[in-house]
Amino acid sequence: DDLDKLEDRPPVLTIMGHVDHGKTTLLDYIRKTKVAASEAGGITQGIGAYKVLVPIDAKLQPCVFLDTPGHEAFGAMRARGARVTDIAIIVVAADDGIRPQTNEAIAHAKAAGVPIVIAINKIDKDGANPEQVMQELASIGLMPEEWGGEVPVVQISALKGEKVDDLLETVMLVAELEELKANPHRGAKGTIIEAGLHKAKGPMATFIVQNGTLKRGDMVVCGEAYGKVRALFDEKGDRVDEAGPSIPVQVMGLNIVPIAGDEFEVVGSLVVAREKAEARAES
Ligand code: GTP
Ligand code: NA
Ligand code: MG
Repeated sequence: DDLDKLEDRPPVLTIMGHVDHGKTTLLDYIRKTKVAASEAGGITQGIGAYKVLVPIDAKLQPCVFLDTPGHEAFGAMRARGARVTDIAIIVVAADDGIRPQTNEAIAHAKAAGVPIVIAINKIDKDGANPEQVMQELASIGLMPEEWGGEVPVVQISALKGEKVDDLLETVMLVAELEELKANPHRGAKGTIIEAGLHKAKGPMATFIVQNGTLKRGDMVVCGEAYGKVRALFDEKGDRVDEAGPSIPVQVMGLNIVPIAGDEFEVVGSLVVAREKAEARAES
């Protein structure tokens, strides 16, 4: 529709790969946090969504990172992460190489038709063999750029922060080529990336807005759930009034817990929201 109102939006970047290859550690370095150390069993069990200002050419560029689990049990989350992303960052540990969930993540990124950037991680470790990983990549049709192919590959140590700047620069270059736009001046639409029941807040869902702007007070329908947005929270748990294109936000006010992966949209009234939700429940 309203093409003239399209504006630049931040890139959504999903980090995927085999279990323990260093995805959360990479995001911790980028965000200056310590999430990985606090995870039960050292395993990521949900999708984390974070707004980050990345310094590029002395300017701060907003972008959104999604952290996905690498454990084999969480394939649905990897698929969901790939579906809402603009670029897939596939992390491969240099001492372990391409493993089953690496292949799975690559397949999800290909199915979603999104560009892939490879981060060969843990290059600081004894037994790291980045050349071997490059060969494995080439053998599955992901020819590294430095070998004449089309896949950007950056060798990093997420733990030490080595070459993470190079990785971010590479990713932002790929994002620029995508010319990512949306219209922030309309009712929001997007995808539910996480949902659950909170003891005090009731049904809660993390939305990622893909077009428009979601505002407190909006009426939303998401799958068979609906409601009036009573409060919005960012990833730190701080209340916010609205969330524009690409921005992840936690939503309070739904009647039931929606299904992660379903889409949401803002509608004109609570009556319409309920009718749409009920029609979906019956079909
Ligand atoms: P899941 O989300 O559970 O799939 O794991 P993950 O990919 O997020 O890996 P995580 O960040 O939890 O890291 C797993 C282990 O690898 C931790 O002990 C990290 O400290 C370690 N690690 C991550 N990156 C590096 C690195 O660059 N070098 C070294 N030496 N260790 C690393
Ligand atoms: Na882990
Ligand atoms: Mg993790």
